[in-house]
Amino acid sequence: MVEIRCATDRDAAAMMRVLDRVIEGRVYSAIERSWPDQDAAAYLRGLSPREAVHVAVDGSGEVVGYQSLDLYSAILPSMSHVGQIGTFITPEVRGCGVGRALFAATEAFAREHGYAKFVIQVRAMNSGAQAFYARMGFRECGRLSRQVLVHGVVDDEVLMEYFL
Ligand SMILES: CC(C)(COP(=O)(O)OP(=O)(O)OC[C@H]1O[C@@H](n2cnc3c(N)ncnc32)[C@H](O)[C@@H]1OP(=O)(O)O)[C@@H](O)C(=O)NCCC(=O)NCCS
Repeated sequence: MVEIRCATDRDAAAMMRVLDRVIEGRVYSAIERSWPDQDAAAYLRGLSPREAVHVAVDGSGEVVGYQSLDLYSAILPSMSHVGQIGTFITPEVRGCGVGRALFAATEAFAREHGYAKFVIQVRAMNSGAQAFYARMGFRECGRLSRQVLVHGVVDDEVLMEYFL
C-alpha cells in the first residue's frame, strides 16, 4: 500500500512526472503541460498555512500520486471556508485506493484548518474522475460550457461541491 504525507518542495519534480503521465491521457485535465520543476517547488514553498499538497508514496519511495488543497479564493475572506482540490494519480496504480487515501488525508487537514466545503472542476469528458468524486461524496452543481480548449479539443467543465 502507499504512504500519504504532506509534500515539500523536494517532491516537486516527482509530482510533475506524475502530472506528465496524467496529461498524456489528454482527456483528464485542463492542464496542457506541467510546470518547470523549479516553479512547482516555488508553488509548494508558497502555500499558505491553510493549504497543502499530499503525496502518495509507494513501497519503493516513488511518488505515485498527489492531491492539492488550495483556497478557493486567496483574496476573499467571505470564501475562506471553501477549498478547491485537484487529484493526480499515475496510471499504473489507478483503481487501487490511492485517490481515496489521499482524499482522507486532505479532508482531515481541511477539517483541522477551518474548511466547510470543497469545490472541484472536472472536464466533462472525464467521467472516471466524476465517478471518483461522486464516490467521495461530491455532487454535481453546475456546468461551464466550452470552458476548455486543450490539445485542440473543446470541452465543458463540470462543477462539483462537497460539504465537510
Ligand atoms: C480519478 C482518480 C483521481 C481516482 O483515483 P484512484 O486512485 O484511481 O481512485 P480509487 O481507487 O481511490 O477509487 C475510489 C473510489 O472511486 C471509484 N472510482 C475511481 N475511479 C473510478 C472510475 N474511473 N470510474 C468509476 N469509479 C471510479 C472507485 O470505484 C472507488 O470506489 P469504492 O472505494 O467505493 O470502491 C485517478 O483515476 C486519476 O488520477 N485519474 C487521472 C487524473 C484525473 O482524472 N484527475 C482528476 C482531474 S479533476
